[in-house]
Parts: sequence; C-alpha cells; structure tokens
Amino acid sequence: MTLNLLFSSILFLAIVKNSIAGGIAIYWGQNGNEATLNDTCNSGRYAYVNLAFLNKFGNGQTPEINLAGHCNPAVNGCTIVGPEIKHCQKLGVKVMLSIGGGVGNYSLASKKDAKDVAKYLWNNFLGGRSSFRPLGNAILDGIDFDIELGSPLHYEDLAKYLKNYSKRGRKMYLTAAPQCPFPDRLLGTALNTKLFDNVWIQFYNNPPCQFTPNNTDNLKNSWIRWTTSVKAKRIFLGLPAAPQAAGSGFIPADVLTEEILPAIKKSRKYGGVMLWSKFWDEQSGYSASIVKRV
Ligand SMILES: *[C@@H]1O[C@H](CO)[C@@H](O)[C@H](O)[C@H]1NC(C)=O
Ligand SMILES: *[C@@H]1O[C@H](CO)[C@@H](O)[C@H](O)[C@H]1NC(C)=O
Ligand SMILES: *[C@@H]1O[C@H](CO)[C@@H](O)[C@H](O)[C@H]1NC(C)=O
Ligand SMILES: *[C@@H]1O[C@H](CO)[C@@H](O)[C@H](O)[C@H]1NC(C)=O
Repeated sequence: MTLNLLFSSILFLAIVKNSIAGGIAIYWGQNGNEATLNDTCNSGRYAYVNLAFLNKFGNGQTPEINLAGHCNPAVNGCTIVGPEIKHCQKLGVKVMLSIGGGVGNYSLASKKDAKDVAKYLWNNFLGGRSSFRPLGNAILDGIDFDIELGSPLHYEDLAKYLKNYSKRGRKMYLTAAPQCPFPDRLLGTALNTKLFDNVWIQFYNNPPCQFTPNNTDNLKNSWIRWTTSVKAKRIFLGLPAAPQAAGSGFIPADVLTEEILPAIKKSRKYGGVMLWSKFWDEQSGYSASIVKRV
C-alpha cells in the first residue's frame, strides 16, 4: 500500500468514524397506530429500540408488559413480537425492554424484591428460561429503567442483580431515562452504581433544564452537568419527536442540527439522540430530518 493510499484510508476511516458518532434511540410500543417493530427497524434510522413498557412489577406482583394496541398480553398475544425483535437484532438494532413509564403500578419493596424482579426479567426476557415467555424466545439486549413513579428505593439493587446475570454469555445492556433535573429523584442512586451503559436524559417536561425558544443555556448547562457527573458510557439527548409528544421541550429540527448538536457533541460521552416516541416521530418526520446529523 502506498503511503498516499494509507493516508487516505486513515482519513476515510476518520470521517466515517465521525459521521457515525451518534445514534438514535426510540421508544416503541405505546401507540397501536405506529409502525410495526419490523418496519421501525427496517427504516434504518434507529440504533436502539426501547419496548415500552413493562409497567407492573415489584411488591410481589406478577410483572406485566403493556404494548398498547400492538398486542394483548392477557391472552399471551405479545409473543408475535418475538420474531420482530430477532429481525431488528439481525439488522444491528439493539432492542431493550423498558420498565416503568408514566402510567403503571411498580416499585421495589426490598432488596429481596429487587432480586426477584431481576430473576423474573432474566428468565422471561433475557438469557434465562421460563415456561411462558411474554415475548417468546427472543433474547432482549437489556433492560431500560424509565422510572417515573413511586419510590426511588432499590433500583440500585435491581441494577446490580441484573448486571450479575450479564456474566453468563452475551453482554446485557443497562440503560436509563432520568429527567433532566440533576440528580434524578428516582434514578440518582441507581445511576451512581456506574453500571449503566447508556443514559438518555429526558430534556422535556422540565423547563429549568430543557430547551426553550429564547434560552438554550439551560439545556447546554444541564448537558454539561450530566456528562461530567454521571458515570455512564454514553449520554443521549432525550427529546420529544413532535411538539405534541410532550408538554414542553420540543426543539425544531434545524435548531437541533445547527445549534444544539454541535455544542453538545463536544462531550466525549455524547451517544446520540433519544426520541419519545415512534408514533410521534411518524407524525413529524423528526428522525428522518436529523438522522444524518446526529
Ligand atoms: C418480521 O420480519 C421477520 C424477518 O423477515 C419475519 O420472520 C417476521 O414474520 C416478521 N414479522 C411480522 C409481524 O411481520
Ligand atoms: C398496585 O399494586 C398493589 C400491590 O399489588 C395493590 O395493592 C394496589 O391496589 C395497586 N394499585 C393500583 C392503582 O392498581
Ligand atoms: C451472581 O451470580 C452468581 C452466579 O453467576 C451467583 O452465584 C451469585 O450469587 C450472584 N450474586 C448476586 C449478588 O446475586
Ligand atoms: C421570546 O422572545 C421574544 C422576543 O424577545 C418574545 O416576544 C417572546 O415572548 C419570548 N418567548 C418566550 C417563550 O419567552
């Protein structure tokens, strides 16, 4: 190889590396009118899909998944999603089970309860075994903590117990979706375990630390606070995919790509953008208009 060719190969690799620095994570599952999981992944725009939500767990309850109109878990109907999860994974998309959400009945009563929930998640959604798996035999890539209700207690235990299963073979990802006020009231202690791979922060419904049309400083300062404080591998900017997707915090696509992303990409920890949700992304075309710049 001539020196010239070598040089241009290195340059090429450097450019490719820069252009794939970020990925998009999307929440799928809370609106039956959004695209199927297969089509979501076929779009090629998402690096992570968070299945939303397992919104009942803890306190000795039998956990329950809720994928809105996509399928009915009460009649074991969500196993149809299993082949779609595998299809997504073949395309290189990581598929996470998101636990929690804004509506549900969940909390962890004790360390023992956290251990039991971890075991349930392992056996029913990850590499373990169970007589009936709600999403069939697909093995999810990990668990996403979107804890928005109830008590902050024992999520650090749940993270530790889950991560302990990760030693058995393939990597299990742990991700979390805290609110932008730092530290997060419900997930702060869990995040301090340093066990989380990706943290996608909700920079919406939180005026003091999000984007407002006349003020980008609150968002940028909050980003710096999070990226310098939280010991996670990657930090994502979590945003509403359309103005109607949240009470506040929507950033027009051109403002995001021209002004916000160049600023926040200065952090080594920048991982990309998280969007709520697939349904709203389809209404607005948001991911399509930002994906090349993320
Ligand atoms: C999703 O795609 C996979 C691979 O092509 C296929 O096996 C599966 O049946 C599809 N599922 C649905 C619901 O279309
Ligand atoms: C939540 O679950 C607990 C324990 O199973 C139960 O006592 C309580 O009534 C439930 N609350 C709601 C709102 O469903
Ligand atoms: C971690 O997993 C090992 C088996 O892989 C088990 O023996 C040990 O008890 C587990 N530790 C905790 C804290 O669950
Ligand atoms: C933003 O600034 C403009 C012009 O100064 C003003 O008219 C508008 O009310 C401000 N908007 C908000 C949300 O503060």
